[in-house]
Amino acid sequence: MMQKNTFYVTTPIYYVTARPHLGSLYTTVLADVISRWNKLQGKELFFLTGTDEHGQKIMQAAQQVGKEPKKFVDNFIPVYKEIWALYEIDYNYFVRTTDTSHQTGAQHFIKKLIDVGAIYSGIYEGWYCTPCETFVTQKSIDKEITQGPLCPSCQRETQFVSEKTYFFKLSAYQEKLLQFYRDNADFIVPKERFNEVIRFVEAGLNDLSISRTTVEWGIPFPDDPMHTIYVWVEALCNYITAIGYGNLVKESEFKKWWPANLHIIGKDIIRFHAIYWPAFLMAADLALPKQILVHGWIKVNQQKMSKSLGNVVDPVLLYDSYGAEPVRYFLLRQIPVNQDGEFSTGDLEHRIETDLANDLGNLLQRMAALAQKYNVIEVKAPKIWSEQSLHLRDESWNTIEDFNSYMEDYMFHMALARLWQFIKQVNSYFHTQEPWKVVSIDKKKFIEVLAATCHSLRIIAILLWPVMPNKMEELLTSLGIKFKVADDIVKHLELETWNKQFKIKKVLPLFKKPI
Ligand code: MSP
Repeated sequence: MMQKNTFYVTTPIYYVTARPHLGSLYTTVLADVISRWNKLQGKELFFLTGTDEHGQKIMQAAQQVGKEPKKFVDNFIPVYKEIWALYEIDYNYFVRTTDTSHQTGAQHFIKKLIDVGAIYSGIYEGWYCTPCETFVTQKSIDKEITQGPLCPSCQRETQFVSEKTYFFKLSAYQEKLLQFYRDNADFIVPKERFNEVIRFVEAGLNDLSISRTTVEWGIPFPDDPMHTIYVWVEALCNYITAIGYGNLVKESEFKKWWPANLHIIGKDIIRFHAIYWPAFLMAADLALPKQILVHGWIKVNQQKMSKSLGNVVDPVLLYDSYGAEPVRYFLLRQIPVNQDGEFSTGDLEHRIETDLANDLGNLLQRMAALAQKYNVIEVKAPKIWSEQSLHLRDESWNTIEDFNSYMEDYMFHMALARLWQFIKQVNSYFHTQEPWKVVSIDKKKFIEVLAATCHSLRIIAILLWPVMPNKMEELLTSLGIKFKVADDIVKHLELETWNKQFKIKKVLPLFKKPI
């Protein structure tokens, strides 16, 4: 079968009880970087993000400020979109679960589950965590108990609920899920998370309540308007409704993009994505997403950054102080994607000063200033490179290969660390060649040093483009290169001998050191 040259990547849809914080930005930046990285491979992209707007949590938050839920959520949407724009998040579509197309699509999906006999009615009795919108299972539930178990995810108190509900026959999918996991060893990255999921499923699955009679703020359950669809079930449907599921006119669009290549999620919502969602899709006879990338949490003083703990960092304040791209770089370089990471402005400032301003910014600045001083504008590659330059070229090829393989494994911090190793090599090449001395003795050699530095900077800028698109386009412009994304650049980079011609323009410092 011919491989599709498309890539469909999603973020979770965010609960709109507040403005986005650095944790929400983190997931979204990861998706943007992966999306741009795939564009560099010549793929056609669909990048979806959006907001999760129904359920008890939103309803209560709206009530607390005396607003209608819809008006309450409407207020936040421009804020989300503005912050994503500040951070250069180049999404294709912003889905809202209050969109009519989402609502009809989600109902269509539930109807399909009903038609195939995957749903039955019953009574749910158990504990519910509103902040997580999760049913908390407890093996033997005693109605007399007034205090339920703490939510295993957020450690907050749960409330007892007893209501009529529709159940999805999740238990019937245990074996099928396990078989799917066995057949798709890369379904969940990182491996540790995948193993947790497998252990959980192996322990047995309970059927899942998928409707609420006590929550009005939701999508009406098909053919039974006393129920609304459980918020998590319809929220998961956003991944298909946003690309046209349930809409005959958009059938070809849906076929083009589904299944998604990658769902990016935080570790707190893995069960929904790695167990429930695949089981629903199996029941509805739809293909399963190809992969799920699970990232850790951004913490402040060892605790997850979250609105309820009051320890959130506002992305707008960071933008005002440091600019978007240094923050994007920091998030990827500092925090291994499979681990939790502590946020501190001290670390951020340190990275900006050393990695960005000193190592990278100064390299460009020094090379361009020297070229200007000696009136060199056009820099041609020499016919024969010196041994030192050839060594640098070999190092650049090794770097491209390593960077590529780290990126394919979503090891962004390693990819960037590897690239910085090369940046240091280029700095050291520039330094040891002493072009400021060579210029008066051997002009050809002087140009060669500039040419090797320009070739290296070009490679660095292209590899870094997914992380810092504007800055890297600026860098390339100062070398006289117009950056185009369309032509599978990374593959070409790996095959290139150094034969480019550069036109050095006057450059301003790429990165400002924090004051
Ligand atoms: N609405 C659900 C997702 C439904 S997807 C079909 C939800 N929303 S959320 O707003 O609470 O979280 C959205 C994403 O942000 C999750 O992936 C979560 O892990 C991530 N983060 C929220 N706080 C975070 C940190 N402090 N650090 C990193 N990511 C964090 O869950």
